[in-house]
Amino acid sequence: MGVFVIDGGIPLKGSVRISGAKNAILPSLAACLLTEGKNVLKDVPDLEDVHTMCDLLTSLGADIDFRPQEKEITIDTTNITVHTATYDLVNTMRASFLVMGPLLARKGMAKVSLPGGCAIGSRPVDLHLKGFSSLGATINTGHGYVEAKVKDKLSGARIYLDFPSVGATENILMAAVLAKGQTTIENAATEPEIIDLATMLVSMGANVSGAGTDTIRVIGTDKLYPVEHSIIPDRIEAGTYMIAAAMTGGDVFLENVMPDHLKPVTAKLREAGVEISEELTSIHIRNSRHLKAVDIKTHPHPGFPTDMQAQMTSFLCHAEGTSMIVETIFENRFMHVSELKRMGARIKIDGRTAIIEGGVPFMGAQVRATDLRAGAALILAGLCAKDRTEISDIYHIDRGYEKMEEKLRALGARIKRT
Ligand code: UD1
Repeated sequence: MGVFVIDGGIPLKGSVRISGAKNAILPSLAACLLTEGKNVLKDVPDLEDVHTMCDLLTSLGADIDFRPQEKEITIDTTNITVHTATYDLVNTMRASFLVMGPLLARKGMAKVSLPGGCAIGSRPVDLHLKGFSSLGATINTGHGYVEAKVKDKLSGARIYLDFPSVGATENILMAAVLAKGQTTIENAATEPEIIDLATMLVSMGANVSGAGTDTIRVIGTDKLYPVEHSIIPDRIEAGTYMIAAAMTGGDVFLENVMPDHLKPVTAKLREAGVEISEELTSIHIRNSRHLKAVDIKTHPHPGFPTDMQAQMTSFLCHAEGTSMIVETIFENRFMHVSELKRMGARIKIDGRTAIIEGGVPFMGAQVRATDLRAGAALILAGLCAKDRTEISDIYHIDRGYEKMEEKLRALGARIKRT
């Protein structure tokens, strides 16, 4: 499984290219199921989650050619012969559930394993299913699977999401593009990854408007066509490197970023004293010497992203003063805290709130990555600890950060995988 060994205390310096977004490539891969033929996705990150989604599409009958060196995948969806996504593939990655909408739209049926309970919370799929049901599908659950069927074609509907779920918005959107008539998704998620998916669907020939606002309108079409599509940069990877640069007192250029997608993170880091300058597609972090406490509450986009909460916890341990973080999206997303405490952090948890006493130096320790972003938080702590940190269970980190140790080493960090 591997361990990251970090000898911290080195200010990061240089430039790092941000990879294509994990949370954009996964729905884009699922969306290829809506067409028959060869789709090409560009700026694809070489991540474990991408390999899992490719395995899933292959199991459905797609022919996949992933060329990580070129950052490209060709997905030939001419022969989608299977409509079941099995437990082993869905269980390892919740985003696998995103094949349900496209399969249902294309094949009129889909059987997908219910995603298992995830470490960061219960993460149900009720909103996805309510949406499919509104579009005219019959839903049955049993033996750990959800089966959705529609007699003829899905029919457009007006769907109000009780919560702006990213996955439910994407799944329902992908089902609606081949439905008869008009669908409106209200209280839709507005994340940049939703806009990226809608952009891809529109190039396939879909009629989608309003993506990026809380009301998405779709007029269903009979057929969609294969496309070439480039994935947007990963705002969470970028945010993680911004924090790494700030915490180590470094001087780092981030290339291939969309500063607009990072507004909530940039605003909080600036409030904490980080010096950030932005160009059209790059960000420069430097002179982060007197970092101070800030309070954070996670929210759906454009609020502060829950996927940056763990990394921000490490950051605030390092900043001077007492900070408060409130996690509103997932009910069990403070698992990094007990590991950070092993490194000397002073944090108290009260329900969904973490109170952080900052300015206490991290000490190297043996710690465990409990999930993807928790793992990133431990790397950040390890980078500024004065001595050696060993992080185990790093497969979580490989799910969502492309070649993290190579990128950090290129910035001067002493990190190796053993
Ligand atoms: C996506 C991201 C994940 C991010 C999350 C929130 C991908 C592949 N993953 O996950 O990195 O942390 O958005 O920004 O894009 N919920 C329900 N019922 C549902 C669906 C969701 O109650 O049917 C709840 C969840 O339990 C959670 C909240 O809604 O509390 C947000 O979940 P959602 O936005 O759906 O996250 P994901 O799409 O799973």
